[in-house]
Amino acid sequence: MQIKLWLQKEFFKGVVSAPPALTWFQNLYWSIEAYGEVPQQSDLGGRLGDDWLERNLMRHLKDEQRHAHLWQELLTHRGTFAPEQLPAWANSVAAFDQSGWLEAMDKLKLYGSVPTAEWIPFFAALHVLEADGVERFQTLAQVADPVDPETARLLRSILKDELFHVQYTHEAVQRLAKGLTNPQYGAQCLQAAQTAYTRWRTAMSPSFVQTMVHQGARFSLPFTVVSSVLGRIGANQPSVIPAPPPIPEAA
Ligand SMILES: [Fe+2]
Ligand SMILES: [Fe+2]
Repeated sequence: MQIKLWLQKEFFKGVVSAPPALTWFQNLYWSIEAYGEVPQQSDLGGRLGDDWLERNLMRHLKDEQRHAHLWQELLTHRGTFAPEQLPAWANSVAAFDQSGWLEAMDKLKLYGSVPTAEWIPFFAALHVLEADGVERFQTLAQVADPVDPETARLLRSILKDELFHVQYTHEAVQRLAKGLTNPQYGAQCLQAAQTAYTRWRTAMSPSFVQTMVHQGARFSLPFTVVSSVLGRIGANQPSVIPAPPPIPEAA
């Protein structure tokens, strides 16, 4: 098994070993799904200049709204909905947003339309986040099955939408980059987003482990040893996502 997947599985085994730790993660997933909800999402029609893109983005935003609702329903039913207790550093979507990767959506809200090239960092960042989300949801669903089948079921019902998000965001980057004088910009953004995210994850990993330990999570000895070594590496990684590659001149 790949070390990354092994670490992820051991990490989530620790998370599901303590109900408060799992609750913390459920609240985090609510906040990630709810982040950037676009109230006027039905107004996207005609504003991206590409029917295919508008249709898929609208479906995507609707999916995330539904996912947030599902998490909220589960947490409220259990009396554990408390996203305000989450630390700001834990939200990976917010980390990309703060560095300008998701600016196209803010500009769309402000100005009504955005130049094509500016959507490329947006979809590249979403692609990287969604792809990682799929991996995490699959692993968590697997380890949650015996302890919390309701959560495992919820994750699996969300997963089919997430797979669609991974696929269309990649296609969106390629589609948008085709029209540029520098079509390599799409691949550059995908690469830069992936590198930035991997570094951010490595840097944040000790904080996630420590927080889970505070919530009562019990990790295996091999995981504790390997993650403390990686934690030392992570200490040298930037914990802030760098800005996206500069937008090329208009075609
Ligand atoms: Fe989602
Ligand atoms: Fe998604």
